[in-house]
Amino acid sequence: MLTRRFPARLDRHPADTPPLRTVVVGYGYWGPNLVRNVNERPEFELVALCERDPARGQAFSAKVPNVPVMADLDEVLDDPTIDALIVATPPHTHHAICKAALLAGKHVLVEKPLATNTMDAIDLVDTANMRDVLLMPGHTFLYSPPVAKVRQLIDRGVLGDMYFVTSARMNLGKYQKDGVICDLAPHDLSILLHWIDEPIAQVAASGRSVFQPGVPETAFLTLTFEGGATANIELSWLAPSKVRKMVVVGSNRMVQYDDTAGDEAIRIYDRGMEFETPESFGEYQLTYRSGDIIAPRLEPAEPLALELQDFAHSIRTGATPRSHAYLGVEVVAAMEAAQESLLRGGVPVAVAERAERAVA
Ligand SMILES: NC(=O)c1ccc[n+]([C@@H]2O[C@H](COP(=O)([O-])OP(=O)(O)OC[C@H]3O[C@@H](n4cnc5c(N)ncnc54)[C@H](O)[C@@H]3O)[C@@H](O)[C@H]2O)c1
Repeated sequence: MLTRRFPARLDRHPADTPPLRTVVVGYGYWGPNLVRNVNERPEFELVALCERDPARGQAFSAKVPNVPVMADLDEVLDDPTIDALIVATPPHTHHAICKAALLAGKHVLVEKPLATNTMDAIDLVDTANMRDVLLMPGHTFLYSPPVAKVRQLIDRGVLGDMYFVTSARMNLGKYQKDGVICDLAPHDLSILLHWIDEPIAQVAASGRSVFQPGVPETAFLTLTFEGGATANIELSWLAPSKVRKMVVVGSNRMVQYDDTAGDEAIRIYDRGMEFETPESFGEYQLTYRSGDIIAPRLEPAEPLALELQDFAHSIRTGATPRSHAYLGVEVVAAMEAAQESLLRGGVPVAVAERAERAVA
């Protein structure tokens, strides 16, 4: 798997070192959440915001008056006292900003997706490895307690063999020029890669661009993993209400994860079918199982806070973060394959080879 290509990282920031001097880049829709969490976490010291839109800079200053706003990224990168950048700018800007930051020797946490194409994503990983700094994509859902619970159920064999997963991620969403696949698919893809823990072999995608050609508001992805598990993802910015639901069907149990259901986000169903192979034609036996439904207790925690904690911990210890750079590359490769499939009328497009080729 791609993850095995990580070189061991050096222990550069032991736990008793001072907070990481950090700059957040971008204060649009998502940046304020990062700024709040960076300010709340003891591992970080927010030393500046980098934002090129003066109105957004003023919005930041009204909330965080003691921290300066810098409009020029080069000024940030020239400051040797800055340890880390947290990038929350639009996806098409990630490669240029992150590459410059990594070359300047800064650790980088970049919002999903890592980049908009596989070559750029791999280039960032290579640059981080060359400079011996941490590059981490911000796949926030990997830190959400319900997602972690499902991973635990899979690891403990509670679900049995993974048959398939379905996912629906829809709402009346914010229209962005990168399209709905780039905006929403990284969430499902990162969760699925984390749960299934195998490379995605191929992706087929269909969808619809209602307002502008090449900017789909709705897309339907079908993924096949190398071990045979399949997944279906429904994405939309054009939906009457918010739906964030995933269903995992295993040989022993089924799980429903509804991110809008609060305390009961996870329900484990002891349901399924037992099929006994017939001894002679027409004699098959099908038994339905319909047992208990359990909603396990979930520890309340803000995923973004856990993500930042993992970022700091990985910088300090050299550990690989849960949301690691090669998972970010696989997400981008699958996203790119989905976009290619969409353009080619829904034909399945190989993913693993694409990522491997880009690494080679
Ligand atoms: N993890 C999540 O759940 C989640 C949710 C929403 C968005 N995101 C991600 O966050 C990122 C930002 O999304 P958004 O919706 O906040 O975008 P946005 O367009 O609302 O905000 C981006 C901000 O970056 C600033 N900016 C752009 N280029 C810059 C540069 N070179 N230097 C300094 N500032 C610059 C813009 O002025 C703007 O204020 C995207 O990668 C998106 O996918 C993640």
